[in-house]
Amino acid sequence: MTSRLIPVPPFVLTVFGATGDLSRRKLIPALFHRDADGQIPDEALIIGVSRRTMSDEEFRAFAHKALIDHIPAAELKEPEVERFLHRLSYVAADADADPGWAELAARVGAAGDMIPVYYLATAPHLFGPICERLGKYGLSEKGRVVIEKPIGKDLKSALALNEQVGRIFPEDRVYRIDHYLGKETVQNLMALRFANALFEPLWNNAHIDHVQITVAEALGVEERAGYYDTAGAMRDMVQNHILQLVCLVAMEPPSSLGADAVRDEKLKVLRALKPIGENNMAALTVRGQYRAGASAGGAVPGYLDELESGKSQTETFVAVKAEVENWRWAGVPFYLRTGKRLASRVSEIVIGFRPVPHSVFDESAGPVESNRLVIRLQPDEGVKLWLMIKDPGPGGIRLTHVPLDMSFAKAFKVRNPDAYERLILDVVRGNQTLFMRRDEVEAAWKWVDPILEAWRNSKEAPRPYTAGTWGPSSAIALIERDGRTWLEDGA
Ligand code: BG6
Repeated sequence: MTSRLIPVPPFVLTVFGATGDLSRRKLIPALFHRDADGQIPDEALIIGVSRRTMSDEEFRAFAHKALIDHIPAAELKEPEVERFLHRLSYVAADADADPGWAELAARVGAAGDMIPVYYLATAPHLFGPICERLGKYGLSEKGRVVIEKPIGKDLKSALALNEQVGRIFPEDRVYRIDHYLGKETVQNLMALRFANALFEPLWNNAHIDHVQITVAEALGVEERAGYYDTAGAMRDMVQNHILQLVCLVAMEPPSSLGADAVRDEKLKVLRALKPIGENNMAALTVRGQYRAGASAGGAVPGYLDELESGKSQTETFVAVKAEVENWRWAGVPFYLRTGKRLASRVSEIVIGFRPVPHSVFDESAGPVESNRLVIRLQPDEGVKLWLMIKDPGPGGIRLTHVPLDMSFAKAFKVRNPDAYERLILDVVRGNQTLFMRRDEVEAAWKWVDPILEAWRNSKEAPRPYTAGTWGPSSAIALIERDGRTWLEDGA
């Protein structure tokens, strides 16, 4: 197969927080994969920055270990590993102090015309100070800055953070990563909707009964308990990843895949979300917290057991019945749920179509079930379209529900690239389509804030659920009250 990879121009990428978890688990392996595929130009450089004192050689050894820990040995070929490690160098610098910054400026300056990218893989409270120093040392002029969630913990703090970054970098050089937007199947959602004429005429409240989005994790919070307890599932997953998925399902067709064309349409969806607050919170939301239970065949502790304090009102599960209030979607519920320590790791979007208006079959044929389109994000990425067909064989018509099943792994037999591989190179290409614009992040907080506030003011604690189940029973009631049911595993 000839390569269809789009080449990128030469760049000098500076990773702040280079010895941290994100860098080790995601960024270094992603850059290696792109390099091994020949997509990174020979001249490109990667500079690691953190407070720790380290030589270039020590940083290369650190990166080498990250590759060994996160990439199967068969994919680590010696000449490619060598070439990749050779691109790396290291500068020790602190966001709040000057030592090291002149050295960094000299190294970036020596890269000449290469595109400067600054990846802030650090805690968010450092975004402002790092941007300020990038400005002070003349590094921001042509540079692009990449920041990660959490972008604030509410609207007020998000505005402040966006303001700090915006003082140094104009919006067209700010790349806010939501790694869900870089996932292969999320991209496929756009292909499915806009490269097929089949779905668009049906993509509205006349034909769609409801939408479900599930992002379920089997893991608990483990060593991230400190951060997680200040966030909870609403801030950690719904405000960003899940709302972005809602946007991609619900947005109007953009006129192109240009960054603003797509982001304008997503913004309209966020602004059209029906407000949820004190008056309807109890009817439309459920929050839960896991108790000890079982996962992958072993006993696992409860959320409170993982916290030093042993006390918390933080939710590890959320279910919401949302609605997009516009002509296309009025009356179509979007059931959203996410949680830690659920029965299995599965993320999928289910588009449930309306039933046939009238059945011509008699009772012996069995029920006529509604069509469903299931877009599976992970694991086993793929798309299933559930249809009714006749059960084979003589003896009258018996109906059965079967999927047209397209598994990407089976259909394409290629490694599924990690979202970061695509996103980092999109920054270098200057393509902001898959990054959140400032107003999107703020609109998402505007919807989330009143829910968080209503929860805070309510006397009720999060509903307990046993680890290894599908969440609290009230989440099941949330959808069953409407005569519908949660669907898992593409069923
Ligand atoms: C992160 C959240 O943004 O996404 C984590 O902070 C969560 O809590 C993770 O586990 C899920 O990402 P993925 O790609 O594994 O679905």
